[in-house]
Amino acid sequence: MNKKNILCIGAGYVGGPTMAVIAKKCPDYRVTVVDINPERISAWNSSRLPIYEPGLDEIVAETRGKNLFFSTDIEGAIRDNDIIFVSVNTPTKAFGIGAGMAADLRYWEKTARQILENARSPKIVIEKSTLPVKTALAMERILASAEGGVEFEVLSNPEFLAEGSAIRDLEYPDRVLIGSRDTDRGRRARDTLVEIYSRWVPREKIITTNIWSSELSKLVANAFLAQRVSSINAVSALCEKTEADVTEVARAVGLDSRIGGRFLNASVGFGGSCFKKDILNLVYLCRFYGLDEVADYWERVVKINVYQQERFIEKMLSAMFNTLAGKRICLFGFAFKADTGDTRESPAIYIAKRLLEEQAEVVVTDPRALENARADLAGVGGSVQFVEDPYEAAVGAHAVCVMTEWDLYRRLDYGRIWEEMVKPAFLFDGRNILDHRRCFEMGFNVYAIGKPPLTHF
Ligand code: NAD
Ligand code: UGA
Repeated sequence: MNKKNILCIGAGYVGGPTMAVIAKKCPDYRVTVVDINPERISAWNSSRLPIYEPGLDEIVAETRGKNLFFSTDIEGAIRDNDIIFVSVNTPTKAFGIGAGMAADLRYWEKTARQILENARSPKIVIEKSTLPVKTALAMERILASAEGGVEFEVLSNPEFLAEGSAIRDLEYPDRVLIGSRDTDRGRRARDTLVEIYSRWVPREKIITTNIWSSELSKLVANAFLAQRVSSINAVSALCEKTEADVTEVARAVGLDSRIGGRFLNASVGFGGSCFKKDILNLVYLCRFYGLDEVADYWERVVKINVYQQERFIEKMLSAMFNTLAGKRICLFGFAFKADTGDTRESPAIYIAKRLLEEQAEVVVTDPRALENARADLAGVGGSVQFVEDPYEAAVGAHAVCVMTEWDLYRRLDYGRIWEEMVKPAFLFDGRNILDHRRCFEMGFNVYAIGKPPLTHF
């Protein structure tokens, strides 16, 4: 007999890894993950999981079929489980009021209604998706319309994992946040969830708050993280004008313990499915509440990110004699960060599209993200090739651009790459991961982010 039956609706980047870790840490619980997408579920049940995350394959192999199950039977699973995580996608709304800013809650609401229709016993419903503050109220109202008198308690338990380090983040979280109603039932539901996490998370790291603080904290955490990247990227533009070096500035600034050194790597821009969407959601909320100055403040974080990507293209154009037409440009990496195959909102998409507009011939290489890259650039037009081997991809190229900080790219033989490129050969390091002086000495003209260029002209 399983001590608890846990369900997660939504088998994506969050639902899959989170439930796999719960199953591993709580072998006496039965964990089920359901999704409307049958292909995703069959991939979770196969030897080729739908997402790449270091350490995930091992955990799924250990737990799947024992106490971790993937299924498309959403209705049956709702009936059989009394603790239900909702981890469906909440993208930016693309139509109507709030288009381009607000969260599109259609998947989320559909789930709420499905829970309502199929529940026959009391349920704890846990918002795992990132949602606008006050969404739990809407969830409560939908669930409260139940006719059969079934009791529902809604909790907020936002997820803070980052892709590429999801398993480590889940096993050793900085904190787990649980928001609940301050009622007897709310506190009881909260304690049930605390009990699950305390199987492996030290109790002092499990923090409980009111439900609105919990919802809002998730948006604010992502806004602060993205703000740091935009802050250092803004500084990188000034460094390029003044011969300061952004890596040295970041180190000097980050050694102040009040500031801290993490998340200060200047780059071609931040990507990922959440930073932009969550900040725009925050901006929309602020405008909704009439806080235009606050909205403008956060909106700049996204604007600087677009500026940073465009600056990268402008730098390439001016370095390569103001024309990219017909030139072969090789992108090293397409994933939005290292150790993931995810390309959602990757700066590489923007750069590739802008290069194609300039009529460059684009070659994309990436150890994990080529399939997604193909889908992202399908129908864009122009000359695009996808090549697995980075050495082969760079043959005949006028320029190599590092788009993703894969460790693999640090270790390549750049002398060999230079030999096979068209001269003068250009290297644009959008992640500041290469040994720029060495590459320059090999013959490259090197342009990094926020550093003086190293050129042979
Ligand atoms: P995802 O798109 O990878 O997965 C969502 C899944 O939900 C999809 O497989 C989709 O088919 C499924 N789904 C949608 N509607 C459904 C329904 N009615 N019933 C059953 N399944 C349904 O998204 P994700 O990256 O896992 O993100 C999920 C949520 O978690 C978002 O709100 C996101 O902001 C948040 N989040 C994501 C990350 C991350 O690193 N990706 C981290 C923290 C929080
Ligand atoms: C981010 C947050 O880090 C997670 O806490 C959060 O749960 C998640 O969003 C979410 O809500 O989806 P993620 O987007 O997976 O996680 O990855 P990050 O490591 O935050 O990187 C985001 C982007 O910023 C990447 O493109 C990365 O390359 C870029 N970045 C990050 C920089 O350019 N410089 C840095 O110093 C750090």
